[in-house]
Amino acid sequence: MRRINCIGILTSGGDSPGMNAAIRAVTRTAISKGFKVKGIYRGYDGLINDEIKEFTSESVSNIVARGGTILKSARSKEFMTTEGREKAFAVMQQEGIDALVVIGGNGSLTGARNFAQEHNVPCIGLPGTIDNDLYGTDLTIGYDTTLNTIVECVDKIRDTANSHERIFFVEVMGRDAGFLAQNSAIASGAEAAIIPEDSTDADQLEQFIGRGIRKSKNSSIVIVSESPKCGAMFYAERVKKEYPQYDVRVSILGHLQRGGSPTARDRILATRLGAGTIDALLDGQRNVMVGIRNDEVIYVPFADAIRSDKPMNMNLIKVLDQLSI
Ligand code: F6P
Repeated sequence: MRRINCIGILTSGGDSPGMNAAIRAVTRTAISKGFKVKGIYRGYDGLINDEIKEFTSESVSNIVARGGTILKSARSKEFMTTEGREKAFAVMQQEGIDALVVIGGNGSLTGARNFAQEHNVPCIGLPGTIDNDLYGTDLTIGYDTTLNTIVECVDKIRDTANSHERIFFVEVMGRDAGFLAQNSAIASGAEAAIIPEDSTDADQLEQFIGRGIRKSKNSSIVIVSESPKCGAMFYAERVKKEYPQYDVRVSILGHLQRGGSPTARDRILATRLGAGTIDALLDGQRNVMVGIRNDEVIYVPFADAIRSDKPMNMNLIKVLDQLSI
């Protein structure tokens, strides 16, 4: 196996709070173990276009508390092609980068897996996404912060919903996964969550309405997972049409969910996984995502990490129903 002297690090896909804490942990752990570190800007695009700078421990000073990513991020179309990945490999060789650390979500780790397979490059992934949808890890970096942001917003929406005795449909991010919707609903005391994983034939809106909106309840909040076909707007329009007696409003939280200073939990997770990345490389691990399971740092092969069927605790749906009486 080729000796690793220099490690390149990049962030890719949607940014998530805690990415900076991960960059800091990877950089400083690597330097303290004798590696050279190079920061790659703008995700895989920056690798293809050689936007690369050598990092010292000062390069990552005072970033642990900052949201976003100092390395910038991109969803690279070019890296999805074999030609793009060939260019990226040539730049890596020219820059003397022997191993690549990729912090990102599903698409980013799929890119890392393809790159590693085609060019025999050691790649290690870190789960950086607010969606919490990477398989094999209990948590992803940024999820906890976003969950807390959503809950803070829903608490505020509840005040106005109560005052006007309205039903609010609040749309949250998560792409194809309902972790943010389900758990923010539990934490904010919402009356229901409509999530993609609850894909029985049952109509989730009918179930919610069917439970009856108590007269004594001043307001109802339904958290809806984003979806191009049936997001919050879709459900609100349906209720307006089918139940005109209710006063309905929609609130789409949008990108404010991705910003902000990471929670202590995300900073600690990012730091543990960042340090674990260098241990993984020293351990001879290749082409794995470093994740966390039952509070232990673990390695998940890329092929598993990018599976789209991360299990969700469906009992929580029942709990939500029971508590919304
Ligand atoms: O994957 C993270 C995420 O925030 C998803 O929850 C969301 O669907 C998507 O990215 C939004 O992407 P963009 O910032 O490119 O609009």
